[in-house]
Amino acid sequence: MLSGAGALVGCTLLAPQRKSARLDEIAAGNRDIVLTAQEHDFALGSDKAWLYGERPFAVLRLTKGEALSVTLKNALAEHSSIHWHGVRGPNAMDGVPYLTQLPVQPGETFLYRLTPPDAGTFFFHPHCNTAAQLGRGLVGALIVDEPDGHWNDDVVLMLKDWRLDDAGRFLPFFTESGASRAGTFGTLRTVNGVAEPVIDLRAQGGVRARLINADPSRIAEIGVEGARARVIAIDGNPVAPFVLDTWKLGPGMRLDLALDMTGDEARLLDYFAAAPVLLATLRAGSQSGTVADPAVAAPVDFSDAWHHTLKLEAAVVANVLPQPAPVVLPDGRRIEIADSLCLAAGTFWTLDGQSWPGRDHARLPPPLFSLPRGRKVVLEIENDTSRAHPIHVHGHTLTMLSANLLKRPVHRADTVLVLPNERVTVGFVADNPGNWMIHCHVIEHQETGMMGWFRVS
Ligand code: C2O
Ligand code: CU
Repeated sequence: MLSGAGALVGCTLLAPQRKSARLDEIAAGNRDIVLTAQEHDFALGSDKAWLYGERPFAVLRLTKGEALSVTLKNALAEHSSIHWHGVRGPNAMDGVPYLTQLPVQPGETFLYRLTPPDAGTFFFHPHCNTAAQLGRGLVGALIVDEPDGHWNDDVVLMLKDWRLDDAGRFLPFFTESGASRAGTFGTLRTVNGVAEPVIDLRAQGGVRARLINADPSRIAEIGVEGARARVIAIDGNPVAPFVLDTWKLGPGMRLDLALDMTGDEARLLDYFAAAPVLLATLRAGSQSGTVADPAVAAPVDFSDAWHHTLKLEAAVVANVLPQPAPVVLPDGRRIEIADSLCLAAGTFWTLDGQSWPGRDHARLPPPLFSLPRGRKVVLEIENDTSRAHPIHVHGHTLTMLSANLLKRPVHRADTVLVLPNERVTVGFVADNPGNWMIHCHVIEHQETGMMGWFRVS
């Protein structure tokens, strides 16, 4: 596979004048990795960023079947954790404070140990005070290679905006006007932590580009010019390949493209705005040749599934909680949540008629539903709001079955973008025991009510 770090060092020595926008990769398979969440000098601003490494973003790469062993060291002044977004891991490793573990306090460590069951493009981030922690840079990529996957090049492209003022200081990550609308947007758009980067590819054909929308708020409508681009995986799950026209990539979503360059350069664009925005320029390498697409999993039959309608709504009145449920952590400890870092200051949104408790509701709400292990579930996600919501389910892989507004191919995903007033039907098999989050990945929506959890036992 790629020797990312080694290759990058070589590159830097040969061309010290240009900063490479390829990310260093950490070979993480069957090795003990330490990630320190810490303040760090930041090339884009005068404030310090919060990072897992020296610069944005850490990339962990392993091969399916290998174990991931990551010790999070918290060198920040507030608690944190790591959630492995999209990975169907054990509940105790899911990184959700109070639901699956206690928060990792300043100075503490936590060992995450799991063997990801699926190959694909994943990412990781904290799960409390996420608007600020992710906003300042605490996010990384987790790539799980297919054992038999051979690409001429395989490149990670992390999309994330930064909220900086003219002096390079961070602007507030949470605003009432943003949280109650489409989210608070960054002021500087970057790919791999560089504005409008040039990214050198090692090949001109058979290139796998792994796009990760790590932004807390912005939906990008991805398109590519100057290359034949086929979508080969969605949220890391192989899909019957189709030609990319444009694809709406909401926060938390990933898109894997197979690229064959038609010239020396291709451009990655966002068509969401009136005029397309240049995100990155990709420069072709010399290697060519085609590559076999990853195998697509067999479809699941959901005809005998339990059905549930999940309404996404704006909160009209302050939400009164039913009796709060004590939560039992995977290690058996019973706890209640009462922590301002994990609770919103206000409530603008509801999921299934209930808001995650804000203000004085300093308790964990009861689960949205409880399922016996192995149950098939069909969720009709009904968006009764004028905003788009990327709805993310932990610990399971969804099958996107149908939608009444935007036609998408049947595919598997862990985060589905539900457009304003759209109704999207997804199915999944509740085969992973534990307490699992389901929430909007526009982080300010999540933190102001559009978040809940369900139990599989
Ligand atoms: Cu990417 Cu619950 O998170
Ligand atoms: Cu939302």
